[in-house]
Amino acid sequence: MVELEVLPDAAAVAAATAERITSVAAVGGHIALAGGSTPERAYALLRAADLHAGAMWFSDDRAVAPTSPDSNYRMAAEALLDHLPAPRRPRVHRIEGELGAETAADRYEALVRAELGERPSFDLVLLGLGPDAHTASLFPGKPAVQERERLVTAVPEAGLAPWVPRVTFTLPLLNAAREVLVLVTGAGKAPAVSRAFGEPPDLSAPSAHVRPEPGRLVVMLDEAAAGELAR
Ligand code: 6PG
Repeated sequence: MVELEVLPDAAAVAAATAERITSVAAVGGHIALAGGSTPERAYALLRAADLHAGAMWFSDDRAVAPTSPDSNYRMAAEALLDHLPAPRRPRVHRIEGELGAETAADRYEALVRAELGERPSFDLVLLGLGPDAHTASLFPGKPAVQERERLVTAVPEAGLAPWVPRVTFTLPLLNAAREVLVLVTGAGKAPAVSRAFGEPPDLSAPSAHVRPEPGRLVVMLDEAAAGELAR
């Protein structure tokens, strides 16, 4: 079941997301952060939070150095992680994009298994949604969408800019999560929202296949992004 939470604006989405991350971290949860620009505001709100009990991961990243402007890790570090003093800082597991997408994916999958066991289930996975209805780095028509064995895989060719290889959680890992929280703001995303989460969903949209069972799927939207959903 898709739980749609429509909030008045992007500020409200950021505040609700920050609250959710804080409460999952407080009980020692494993949280996968999303890249892109939408979650940045929520991350910045967490600079005053105590996240030390939690562990932060990344649901995808670009295969670049952690200092690159294209790095999702760098975005999260600059928005949040670098601002947290040691006593309030969570454990952080980043994707080692500088090793190349294949090696980074192999190493991240091994780390996920080492930390969360052979059938890993994240407590909270954050995702964004692209205008082409991709999520994480699962782009329409690319082989990573079909992956059913791997938990983390390399994406040699991105479907959108930046045109660099990616490393991404696969559908089996996303759908094993206790909760997936998809953040979407802005009218430009309204058609993608309706394809991914409208009834019936458009199965050519990778995000239409994110359906954690028995976990929760919460789609947090502002009014503009929800504009094309029948409600
Ligand atoms: C990435 C992402 C990607 C992102 C969406 C939405 O690495 O690019 O993780 O899936 O979440 O493209 O991006 P925006 O929030 O920037 O619109």
